Amino acid sequence: MEDTLLKALNGRYATKQFDPTKKISQGSLNTLLESLRLSPSSMGVQPWKFLVVTNSEVRKQIQEVSHHQPQVVDASHLIVLTRPLHIDAAHVDRHLANTAHIRGVTVESMSEYRSMIMRLVQTAPPEGLIGWANAQIYIALGFLLEAAALLGVDACPMEGFDKQKLDDVLKLPEKGLASVVLCALGYRTDADKYAKVKKSRFVKEEVFEFIA
Ligand SMILES: Cc1cc2nc3c(=O)[nH]c(=O)nc-3n(C[C@H](O)[C@H](O)[C@H](O)COP(=O)(O)O)c2cc1C
Repeated sequence: MEDTLLKALNGRYATKQFDPTKKISQGSLNTLLESLRLSPSSMGVQPWKFLVVTNSEVRKQIQEVSHHQPQVVDASHLIVLTRPLHIDAAHVDRHLANTAHIRGVTVESMSEYRSMIMRLVQTAPPEGLIGWANAQIYIALGFLLEAAALLGVDACPMEGFDKQKLDDVLKLPEKGLASVVLCALGYRTDADKYAKVKKSRFVKEEVFEFIA
């Protein structure tokens, strides 16, 4: 397993040139989407919605507001990772009702848990809550990137886009959502020179400190 994981992580790279003719199978896509859905989040609140964009016209419009990055249109699938515009009592209660249903307990039995979450939601400044939601979404992005690497699916995470304009293209405010980050998924072309570029990472001694 260690070998499999390290091989996958060394083999992946932020793919710049996707082969537009190669599509991800439904089975692999389902697994990748599950890696997003199963991601952990602070207090289990899941402050996210993942939009899977395959419509080529919409993808062209997204490309216009994403520095014309070719990955946006060439990849098999484009995922837009979004957060709720408002993390409020309604969102928290939806999470608690879902948990109660799944675990066969009453919502009332979780009242202390609810108070704990609501304290954070009601006392944090708006920009603090946005940062908090974004942090959860980046964990989901990490899960997706690792799952893709293990499945041999190429990916490119992307922050290079105009959030305001992308939100307008996808009418996200009307849906109560805001974009956070994109991820293109598909298969590389042989011509992508970035596949052969050596990984640039700090050495272990710089990255880790062991406090024994
Ligand atoms: C959050 C995030 C945003 C990124 N945004 C872009 C982007 O907009 N366009 C792009 O080509 N690469 C983007 N990258 C790719 C990084 O440049 C790349 O992951 C980094 O240089 C390390 O290289 P590697 O992923 O190939 O190992 C992004 C990566 C992350 C994690």
